[in-house]
Amino acid sequence: MRIGILTGGGDCPGLNAVVRAAVHTVEGGAADGIIGYRHGWLGLAEGDGVALTAAVTDPLLGTGGTALGTARYHPADHEGAIEQILRTVRRDAVDALVVVGGDGTLAAARPLADAGLVVVGVPKTIDNDVPGTDRSVGFDTALAIATEAVDRVHTTAESHDRLMVIEVMGRHAGWLAVGAGIAGGAHAILVPERPFDIEQVAAALRRRHRVANFSIVVVAEGATPAPGTDGTAPVADPNQPIVAGSIGAWVRAELAERSGFESRLVVLGHVQRGGTPTAADRLLATRFGVAAVQAAAAGATRVMTALVGDEVHLVPLDVAMAGPRGVPATLLEISRALAA
Ligand code: F6P
Repeated sequence: MRIGILTGGGDCPGLNAVVRAAVHTVEGGAADGIIGYRHGWLGLAEGDGVALTAAVTDPLLGTGGTALGTARYHPADHEGAIEQILRTVRRDAVDALVVVGGDGTLAAARPLADAGLVVVGVPKTIDNDVPGTDRSVGFDTALAIATEAVDRVHTTAESHDRLMVIEVMGRHAGWLAVGAGIAGGAHAILVPERPFDIEQVAAALRRRHRVANFSIVVVAEGATPAPGTDGTAPVADPNQPIVAGSIGAWVRAELAERSGFESRLVVLGHVQRGGTPTAADRLLATRFGVAAVQAAAAGATRVMTALVGDEVHLVPLDVAMAGPRGVPATLLEISRALAA
């Protein structure tokens, strides 16, 4: 059996660790060879693949990004792309594909599974919002970076008596905002799961400033004001990706006006996606890479590796499409209880 592997969608720390683990598992005897396709589905459509060996991928274990490259390329949006991909797969005598991606990249694997190819998904995204798995590769590292940022902003906020708004990634789910907000001791945490009332947030901060001289607000890029509440937030075009900094800028301006506090905005942006993966991400990535190749070798298809509790399971790929997986109410309640 020959395996193909690709990384698609936004990059994240831990992708190289998945590929390295897959290559090791192949070389350990699970399959006869493994080809890495460059730039996600685009590489498969264009026939751009390279044979991978452990000698090449071993040094990549602790590196960030993806050495295979990635792209936000969805075969369904390009006429004839599925047929091109199937031609590449036949040309390279690939029997199974390991697809490392978020919901968009994983969704694109389904027509190929329907066409008879063995397909195994591996969930990755710093947003941690792929349904069916308790963790996605990349989240732990992004959470550590965002938490460190909140810690660092604390000392400058306190020194200057300022209100600091920190915008973190998370278009559809607030895992990073809630995680870094709680771990970093933020005084308000705004997430897509719970539309907020800006006047309530401002009132809580005004109360806090009777006894404190600074505040930290963490806002997910996909957070929105509740309909009918004060203020006119920037209207997101549902057909366009969310613009980083947009809701953060609005929240900062509104809170400054309603509180009179001096304020600044920090947009963490792609800093959260860069750099070396944490030990937890390397471990998860390695477990998923091994499990994905073993599953493919055993003929399991239309499945995705998933962390359920402490164990790696295989779940149907369709489960990953039921997203996004939001932060559970219990954790949202904790973030609210600890706020200003
Ligand atoms: O991969 C998920 C993500 O990091 C989101 O949190 C963020 O909104 C988006 O990607 C940014 O995408 P791009 O890299 O295309 O700007």
